[in-house]
Amino acid sequence: MRSFFLRMVLIGVLLATLTGILTMAQGNPEAAKITNPVAATPESIAAGKEIYQRRCAVCHGIKGQGGSGSDISPPAPDLTDAEWKHGSTDGEIFDVIKNGVQPDLNMEPFGDRIKDPDIWNIVNYVRSLAKKD
Ligand code: HEC
Repeated sequence: MRSFFLRMVLIGVLLATLTGILTMAQGNPEAAKITNPVAATPESIAAGKEIYQRRCAVCHGIKGQGGSGSDISPPAPDLTDAEWKHGSTDGEIFDVIKNGVQPDLNMEPFGDRIKDPDIWNIVNYVRSLAKKD
């Protein structure tokens, strides 16, 4: 009886640890805390779209559908679906655009070329692409 109880506790601890590791791998808890200071107005979304088409569409597709438009492998992910490998909050998306995705940086950092308020405009635009079902 006692060993059964101990085993259950062990499994519990193991599961909790695994969940922790998985959650960390899938997002950026620090970046998730950053709140979006730019309201998703039509103006903001339009400004984001303009920059997106110039800087991002080559890899992520003109509609954010992800793609094979470039030869990077794996191809740039779909930005219209519900899957966010690097986190789905505004703050995490902001961080990905500003700092890129380590270690390969196939998703390059744009922080040196795009100012923060414009990165937020892009975040607002990308969010507006979400498939509605
Ligand atoms: C050179 C090609 C390329 C360009 C240009 C590019 N990306 Fe990416 N992007 C990628 C790749 C590849 C990944 C996946 C990185 C990984 O998981 O290691 C990615 C990942 C992302 C993610 C994370 C998606 C997720 O599922 O978590 C976001 C958000 C993103 N890009 C937005 C943008 C935006 C906005 C721009 C323009 C400012 C942009 N990207 C420009 C290639 C690109």
